[in-house]
Amino acid sequence: MTSEGIEKLIRPGLANFVGYAASKSPETLVGKVEVPIEEIIKLDANENPYGCSPRVNAALATYPDLNIYPDSGQTELRELLQEYTGVSSEHIVAGAGSDQLIDLILRLFIEPGDEVINCVPTFAMFRFFMGLHPGILVEVPRDDNFAVRVNAVKAAITKKTKIILLATPNNPTGTIIPRREILEILDTGLPVVVDEAYYEFYGETVAPLVGQYENLIVLRTFSKWAGLAGLRIGYGMFPPKIADFLLRIKEPYGVNVAALVAVRESLKDRDYLMEKVKVIIAERERLFEELKKLKWLKPFPSQANFIFCSVLNGKASELQQKLQKKGVLVRYFDQPLLQNSLRISVGKPEHTDTLIRVLRELEGEING
Ligand SMILES: Cc1ncc(COP(=O)(O)O)c(C=O)c1O
Repeated sequence: MTSEGIEKLIRPGLANFVGYAASKSPETLVGKVEVPIEEIIKLDANENPYGCSPRVNAALATYPDLNIYPDSGQTELRELLQEYTGVSSEHIVAGAGSDQLIDLILRLFIEPGDEVINCVPTFAMFRFFMGLHPGILVEVPRDDNFAVRVNAVKAAITKKTKIILLATPNNPTGTIIPRREILEILDTGLPVVVDEAYYEFYGETVAPLVGQYENLIVLRTFSKWAGLAGLRIGYGMFPPKIADFLLRIKEPYGVNVAALVAVRESLKDRDYLMEKVKVIIAERERLFEELKKLKWLKPFPSQANFIFCSVLNGKASELQQKLQKKGVLVRYFDQPLLQNSLRISVGKPEHTDTLIRVLRELEGEING
């Protein structure tokens, strides 16, 4: 069979699947940036600039049982997460990043023709996974300040609606959905997924309602606040029957033993990690003020660990390329609902200083 022949056997539904535009790994930029790779400032993936708890590194360095599969039932992990969230373990399932849980939820609920409501612009992985599943993505645009329009969400509901996806704080805009609006959407009775990946930077949650609502799912991650993006560990809180089912359909060993060790140690070092979260929040506010001073950028207030910014003069794509050349990585968007804009993760104070200095240097080139 020729290679063209085998290509024809791919599911037709995937013919136009473009994949996810993931952030760049610094090692792939050798020769493309003017600074040594170690000096690249990575503000493009909402990672934690302070890294993980030192307790995690120490525990992983001496972990003896890498030859043993993890506990498929996640017993210890779910108990640790119960203690952290205050939500009992029967509600909890962990995944290899909360990304994996989004996939599992869609696998559990979505049949051909089912509709999923998505409040755009939002986290691109929602659309990514819907591209792999047989359902239909119904996109409800947010308002000009990127707030969810609850009435529009309700108006989009049909007999085929299976799930409503909400992210708060939202990526890439940093905007939140007020609790009363989440409750209003929950009152539709449809399964509602509330993605709280940035909860620790915001402080408000609907997790305690998981026991009261049969239709509420809350997703969280250790990637952001605990600096464990590279280990892939997230979790969700579900109605117990759904949690049971997810434990059945998930791959048995998807969450690795290093992730379990990392959660155990991170939760012992909560004060240290939350101190860093506080520092990031303070830096977010400083970065916002600094960006505002550049009259050609319009930063939006954020409750997460990044700032979304419209580029008022010049092209965001060009700006992103020029920043990259100088060793500062940020994300750019240029799509119908995210025109000419950047998303900048909050780094350390010295990262903000470099970013602002380079932006000022580029000002003439970009605006001219
Ligand atoms: C809103 C949102 N949900 C989920 C995730 C994925 O997190 P994880 O690393 O746990 O897969 C992200 C990561 O950027 C995010 O922004």
